[in-house]
Amino acid sequence: MKKRMIVGNWKMNPITLEEAKRLFKSIKRVAEKLKSVTVVVCPPYIYIPALLNTRSEFQISIGAQDIYFEGQGSFTGEVSALMLKDLGVGYVIIGHSERREMGETDESVAKKVQALFELGMCPILCIGEKIRDDSGSHLEFLKNQIKNSLNKVSKKHIGKLIIAYEPVWAIGAKKAMEPENIYEMSIFIRKVLVDMYGYDEAVSTPVLYGGAVNFRNATEIFSKGQIDGLLVGRESVNSTGFAELLKAVDVS
Ligand code: 13P
Repeated sequence: MKKRMIVGNWKMNPITLEEAKRLFKSIKRVAEKLKSVTVVVCPPYIYIPALLNTRSEFQISIGAQDIYFEGQGSFTGEVSALMLKDLGVGYVIIGHSERREMGETDESVAKKVQALFELGMCPILCIGEKIRDDSGSHLEFLKNQIKNSLNKVSKKHIGKLIIAYEPVWAIGAKKAMEPENIYEMSIFIRKVLVDMYGYDEAVSTPVLYGGAVNFRNATEIFSKGQIDGLLVGRESVNSTGFAELLKAVDVS
């Protein structure tokens, strides 16, 4: 059975290194015992080296929340994929809606995705509509977002791609999208990928769901939503809730 993937996006939390270490340690304790779940934790950059030092390779992976698409140079405040790879980071969230809100475009997302593929790293490409209505315009929006974000990517690189479908209206909300709708969206996303890269590539690309996931709704999202994993925000910085979530979705 394909392993389920749970990615914790810590966003700009917690505010001290001590807390970050404590949270990571508690996740690691649970992750060690999981049979069918791959855990990726994406802390703020500043905590990555310290957390990598406390980790053993196979229990848990560390990802970042963004990169700059250039490798090195005069880009004040930026961090490159090359630097993260050197540390041992294998995954990077790209195009999160909170970054798009700060000016990230499909064009810069495409460059970042390509920069990661060139280094053999895995982008967790975030896509998602801001609004849904009966006209179905969100489907066209998503199709364009996927096509534009992957416009530099050839078939040979696509094996490293992870897609995270996060409807913007569900992020930070009280309630997640209905699992039946998640199912429809995962089929739609795969169909777009089939048209772009062919059937085999599309079915082997993990599609995750994100937006108001917690330990209570996670199993139903898996069973009815037919997705490969979850991208978790708030619940990933709640050590008890995240531990419960990981245990709940670990089915053998
Ligand atoms: P919440 O789980 O807090 O809704 O956030 C989702 C998210 O943005 C993960 O990237």
